[in-house]
Amino acid sequence: MLHILKMAAKFEQQPAQKLLDGKVIASIFFEPSTRTRLSFETAANRLGARVVGFSDVKNTSVSKGETLKDTITMVANYVDLIVMRHPLEGSARYASEVASVPVINAGDGANQHPSQTLLDLYSIQKTQGRLDDIRITMIGDLKYGRTVHSLLQALSLFNARFKFIAPPELQMPDEYKSYLTDRGLAFEEHTDLAGNMADADILYMTRVQRERFQDPIEYEKVKDVYSLKKAMLAGARPNMKILHPLPRVNEINADVDDTHHAYYFEQARNGMFVRMAIFAYVLGCD
Ligand code: CP
Repeated sequence: MLHILKMAAKFEQQPAQKLLDGKVIASIFFEPSTRTRLSFETAANRLGARVVGFSDVKNTSVSKGETLKDTITMVANYVDLIVMRHPLEGSARYASEVASVPVINAGDGANQHPSQTLLDLYSIQKTQGRLDDIRITMIGDLKYGRTVHSLLQALSLFNARFKFIAPPELQMPDEYKSYLTDRGLAFEEHTDLAGNMADADILYMTRVQRERFQDPIEYEKVKDVYSLKKAMLAGARPNMKILHPLPRVNEINADVDDTHHAYYFEQARNGMFVRMAIFAYVLGCD
């Protein structure tokens, strides 16, 4: 991870490096995406690779009933690497076992979003000057939010101190809390936002993941549970930065955008450099 962060910093300094000239990358998205797909595809283009793929399965043979196994086997025949987002948890690992080329997980259901975690780490390192001993407060949909699951596991390697703020329905799953306990890392859990932000270096906001709810009424109950406003940041530490994987809905008010705490748009920009580094690393061009 640290090697990829170092490479990302080099790509940020000098983005025009045609390390992947002649390579072809498949970008296959079975779920909607703006940042992840476009930053992966831009990263590939900047490195000189060509990109094929789809962002809507309606236009593919998946709509005729082709299985994931067959789709991946076919796509792997044509390309050097596959970037895949899919709604099923574990689908990326499965695809990597089927494919003859590397598969990068661009998000698998409510499970994991590892490339987002690498850009989150890069953003934390850039804004805090370190990764060790970060006090991070994760807020919102900690149950279905795959970004917090991956980030928790990564930050556990750097002695992070965690605070989880979520309504009872959307608490951090037990498996991730056990992951921390097994590693001797403490965490706090709260349901109120006010009064629980003052000691944070990083506020990691998340959207309530409407697409993961079986029952729309349950989503309606929690959809606007937290809404961060500028006035609520009065007691924040000067170094505190607000991260959000985006898209946001109502969880960060627009009046926060102009504060020095807001970092979510730069965070998304960092994704392009980190994804250039991931490609270069995975394809052995680093
Ligand atoms: N952060 C993220 O995964 O955003 P997209 O869904 O737009 O790719």
